[in-house]
Amino acid sequence: MIDDLEELQKRAEADIGAAKVEAELAAVRVKYLGRKGLLTQYLRNLGQLSIEEKQIRGKRANEIKNNLASKFEEAQAILTALKKETSFREEAIDVTLPGRRSGCGRIHPVTQILEEICTIFAGIGFSIVEGPEIENDYYNFEALNIPKDHPARDMQDTFYIDENIVLRTHTSPVQIRIMEKQQPPVKIISPGRVYRPDSDVSHTPMFHQVEGLLVDRGVTFGDLKGILTSFLKQIFGEDTVLRFRPSYFPFTEPSAEVDIRCVMCQGRGCRVCGQSGWLEILGSGMVDPAVFKNVGYDPEEFSGFAFGLGVERIAMLKYGISDIRLFFENEKRFLQQF
Ligand code: FA5
Ligand code: MG
Repeated sequence: MIDDLEELQKRAEADIGAAKVEAELAAVRVKYLGRKGLLTQYLRNLGQLSIEEKQIRGKRANEIKNNLASKFEEAQAILTALKKETSFREEAIDVTLPGRRSGCGRIHPVTQILEEICTIFAGIGFSIVEGPEIENDYYNFEALNIPKDHPARDMQDTFYIDENIVLRTHTSPVQIRIMEKQQPPVKIISPGRVYRPDSDVSHTPMFHQVEGLLVDRGVTFGDLKGILTSFLKQIFGEDTVLRFRPSYFPFTEPSAEVDIRCVMCQGRGCRVCGQSGWLEILGSGMVDPAVFKNVGYDPEEFSGFAFGLGVERIAMLKYGISDIRLFFENEKRFLQQF
């Protein structure tokens, strides 16, 4: 039986040594020294033995009990220290590390171009006005000489809200709203969002236009050409290659569109310019007398020109962006370049 006792001590010491955390050690303590622990039971059973045996075994058992108790103390001290050290290490703050800067936002490239356009026109005396994005059919189409059911409506795909209300397809309705309120001279630009069910490398369903309108006595096509050329050279640089191309809009006569030589392929033709070598950036023309009549201006007395710039197209050409949709994907690595 004394052998059992020695064996018990050996095992207890091995268990103590194997305990890696405080909870494990506590379990070992219960196993040997708890109320139903192995050593406790051993001591309890001593009562059944003879006095002589009781003395020998009792003495040894108590020695072992004391010995184990101090082994537990030691192990406990080590595990406590270890726990502290681990938590220090895990919760450590390296005060010498440089701080993490929170990312600094910047102005979206389209907004940057929009502001640049407005600054240039403000510099030559245009004032800036705005109009609604949800527009009456009348302002978006009819007053601009695009009657209901007329084939000219096919030029612009449209998001209809109901039969008479649309998401404006261009900024041209602002021309009408301004002329209804104001007598000539009129010299305004109007930046804003417009909407069309379009989507490819050079078209998005929402994009920005800047409308321009100048009405006075004696305004000619030469003024239109002069002002737009001067603007385009300011925004793209003196060496820009551009062309005025005859076109058609129901609200201008004559009409012209302006193309910039595609910067992606230097005019050789690529998927961005649809192999044409040119990218269309604006529509323009002399205000049609029918539009003047709709707003109560006398076309015999006044003349004027108007234009509508595609802002994303200008940004694409200026920054060499090959897919217009990148502007709206909000990919940080893309936006951070501007
Ligand atoms: C117009 O919207 C006319 N209102 C412009 C105008 C104004 C003509 C005043 C005469 C007088 P157009 O549909 O061509 O025209 O569009 C003008 C410009 O917007 C285009 O040259 C192009 O640069 C840009 N654009 C057109 N559709 C999209 C689109 N889906 N995504 C991005 N840009 C577009
Ligand atoms: Mg066009």
